Amino acid sequence: MKCKVDLDCSRLEHTHVKTVAADQRSENIERLSKMKTIFTILLASMIGFVGIYVYIKLSDYLLNSESTDQHTDTRTHHKIVYHNLPVESSPQCSNIPIGNRRDCWPGSTDLLTDHKCIQKGCCWQPYIGSSPGVGGVPWCFYPIGYQGYVVQSLQKASSGMTVQLKLVQPSGWPNDINNITLDITYDSSERLHFKIYDSNKSRYEVPLPLHQTSNKVTDTDINYNVDIPTNGTFYIKVYRKSTGKILFDSQEASPLIFSDQFIQLGTQLSTEFIYGLGEHRSSFLVSTNWTKLAIWNRDQPPKRKTNLYGSHPFYLNVEDDTNSHGVFLLNSNAMEIEIQPTPALTYRTTGGILDFYIFTGPIPDQVVQQYTELIGRPFMPPYWALGFHLCRWDYGGIDGLKKVIKRMRDANMPYDVQWNDIDYMRGHLDWTYDQHKYNGLPNVVDDLHKHGQHYVMIVDPGISNTQKPGSYPAYDNGIDGDIFIKKHDNSGPIIGMVWPGNTAFPDFFHPNVTTYWTNLAQTFHNQVEFDGLWMDMNEPSNFVSGSVTGCPDNNLENPPFVPPVLDGKTLRSRTLCASSRQHISTHYNLHNMYGYSESVATKSALNTILGNKRSLVISRSTFPGSGVVTGHWTGDNTASWDDIYWSIPEILSFNMFGIPLVGADICGFTGETNAELCSRWMQVGAFYPFMRNHNSVGFKDQDPAIFDEATQTIMRDALNLRYTLLPYLYTLFYRSHVNGSSIIRPLFYQYPVSDYNNTYKIDTQFMWGTCLLITPVASQDTTTGLGYLPRDRWYDWFNQTYIDATGGFINFDLPKQHINLQIRAGSIIPLQQPAVTTTLARKNKFMIISALSVHGEANGELYWDDGVSRDAIFWGHYNLIKFNVSQSTLFSTIVKSGYKTESMVLGEVKVLGVEIAPTSVTFNNQVLPTSDYSYTNKTLVVDKLSVNLTEPFKLSWLV
Ligand code: NOJ
Repeated sequence: MKCKVDLDCSRLEHTHVKTVAADQRSENIERLSKMKTIFTILLASMIGFVGIYVYIKLSDYLLNSESTDQHTDTRTHHKIVYHNLPVESSPQCSNIPIGNRRDCWPGSTDLLTDHKCIQKGCCWQPYIGSSPGVGGVPWCFYPIGYQGYVVQSLQKASSGMTVQLKLVQPSGWPNDINNITLDITYDSSERLHFKIYDSNKSRYEVPLPLHQTSNKVTDTDINYNVDIPTNGTFYIKVYRKSTGKILFDSQEASPLIFSDQFIQLGTQLSTEFIYGLGEHRSSFLVSTNWTKLAIWNRDQPPKRKTNLYGSHPFYLNVEDDTNSHGVFLLNSNAMEIEIQPTPALTYRTTGGILDFYIFTGPIPDQVVQQYTELIGRPFMPPYWALGFHLCRWDYGGIDGLKKVIKRMRDANMPYDVQWNDIDYMRGHLDWTYDQHKYNGLPNVVDDLHKHGQHYVMIVDPGISNTQKPGSYPAYDNGIDGDIFIKKHDNSGPIIGMVWPGNTAFPDFFHPNVTTYWTNLAQTFHNQVEFDGLWMDMNEPSNFVSGSVTGCPDNNLENPPFVPPVLDGKTLRSRTLCASSRQHISTHYNLHNMYGYSESVATKSALNTILGNKRSLVISRSTFPGSGVVTGHWTGDNTASWDDIYWSIPEILSFNMFGIPLVGADICGFTGETNAELCSRWMQVGAFYPFMRNHNSVGFKDQDPAIFDEATQTIMRDALNLRYTLLPYLYTLFYRSHVNGSSIIRPLFYQYPVSDYNNTYKIDTQFMWGTCLLITPVASQDTTTGLGYLPRDRWYDWFNQTYIDATGGFINFDLPKQHINLQIRAGSIIPLQQPAVTTTLARKNKFMIISALSVHGEANGELYWDDGVSRDAIFWGHYNLIKFNVSQSTLFSTIVKSGYKTESMVLGEVKVLGVEIAPTSVTFNNQVLPTSDYSYTNKTLVVDKLSVNLTEPFKLSWLV
């Protein structure tokens, strides 16, 4: 027989010739094996392990007696003749521990049978406790020594290498790509880039602006080693140079497959401590117990084990010596990521190329910094965006809205931003407001501004196409500019259905779209002076599957592999047809970037409209890089205690994804909340970087002012605490913007060593930067509860006493009004007296709280600018002040003094952990009268200050 394609002929032979007899026999075998699979599953539950073992052996004997080494691949219609197929008993199959099996039949649209599995060159061994082809321990898995691609040539360059790979064993997926290239680039000493692509034909690549390094480095400068074989089966290994620990290792993991619509690569993980891979509802620590994560943006109220609003194929993995590294796959296609007990991870994507970046950390926060250096640093929010936001779906009209604003003011609730949901619109039409129901909306917004408050309203991407021609510019201009996503054959806009009825969808990658969107926003802003925009439904969500006229039947609509997305094996569920066309590619490729692209266009529109003023964009759907322009809320949660807990891993993950301005709907979106739940939620919500209370249509009001006096007090206290801490939070945002540091962090970022087994799993508590530890209450009727205190000295925020923790759980008193907040010894935190708006609070005196370490030291910093100018950092219009304590002296250093418009007055300094009562206290070398300070509880309080913070100062205490 002749070998028609360029393949390893010793192993298989291809021919297009079909013989009827062989096909007939193949079909019989297929039928038999399908029946066997179904019976196996049924019997597994009925007769247990012994019975099933006998059954499998018997049926294998029967099947094998019919078996042949000539099979027809039902997808390619190629007849493939395999030699040396692995059999269950061969060492390539039988020496593989269960947890190491690498799935050879992942979620294909074909039903798996043992026959098909073996035909693919894989091992077949049923496993009781999982089902074939759907997850868990695979029944069909790759043998040891599976070849796939071999290395043809390897060429080294000064800052990387280029490797040519050649397929020697067809994958069984349609349209294998025979020749592929691997480019390895040493981007920097901490960042490796490797990219695998078709050598002969260009394919879709993610249109994300990345911050590439200009000077690549040589292999003597890098923190990692790369190992690629010079011939034989391909693998890539990346080690940390200093320790030899694995950063990426595909050798024993799922093999490389590169076919047109199924691309796979696996890697060993360093340890089971892996985080990231969003957007999903899960514990912060991702389980390695055969977890399959589908990545395909979807309008789906958060629930477990399903794809949600955003896509973030980035993970952080801890090595067993506490170093950490990160891996980012830049790919926007629908994908599955499977994590298995080995521990190992497999990427399976439906298109594009494999474009990987590895970040060597080694400190977890450095991994995030290196990741955001590539995808873009988070934007600097306006100061007011850190205040409290209030929203609900359906205020019932302008009177309802006014009533809530008044109620909040009357109750003296700190409150900065009022929002409106879709009920403000006329007939749910974007860029309109209902002049009847919301008559006077512009005046309400003016009034908010007069009170130093701000206004944000919702805009959905769906643009109604059923309005009278000439009456609705959002549609008419879209048609004129040709900016809508088109049907697969370019025959006009694809029409779906959202709130206003039938809608077209702007293609936010279209070159004309920014002008289109900006004009609409500007015209609306001329009437209603909004300060920020809320991007909802931008997965994009569609109430019909694909379009109002369905979707065509083609390879993009019916790919051979569909990740385990909600609603079965279709990508179009609750969104547009995958084969619809966007300006730069298909929706199949760009779907996961829809929300991202909308956020970019929206931010650009706001920048044009507001000039040099910062604005706020909050988007439901996100992608890597979204944090450069937008914040995020975690979607349609429920008014439940569980949802308080889930918000913590969600917020931790988004901080890792470079979108630190994130929060959950406080008090719950759907379902009725209650005073206890809502007040506990306000307490934890006071520590969400983005703090918004929002609820759904049909449920009772849940703004803080609607509750009884006692509940209001709890909520007001929580808000006042947040407002007191805002200078610190703002400084964390500055650090996040310039260095990429996370704002909310898990405990292990700070305490990886001494508490190995504890801190890595904790996601019920979290830190603000490196200084504050928050232990929220997420359960009903709780008055005491366990919280973990890492090995360190911790000061209680309220009573200022300290505990020298040894690393363990402590039973805390958690009365209803209490927020459990600890300060890490060694921190200096800038604060300000709170007020009912940030506009007013910014005028108040600053305070400094300094929590001394065991050695009597501490440090911290304060960033300050006008809170609104977009280019404050670029032009240096800011102040940066460092604070240090050593040898019983707290002193400030002015690192930058570029903002002089507002005065910064220091009114109070508290030093916690002063062991011995001071005999005298001096401020800038002047001895203070004893009436100007107090000392109790090992705390020195100097509270009659009125000092210019932009000048260095020195506070000393003599003991
Ligand atoms: C879905 C959003 O997630 C929710 O926050 C909003 O209230 C509704 N859409 C209505 O616009």
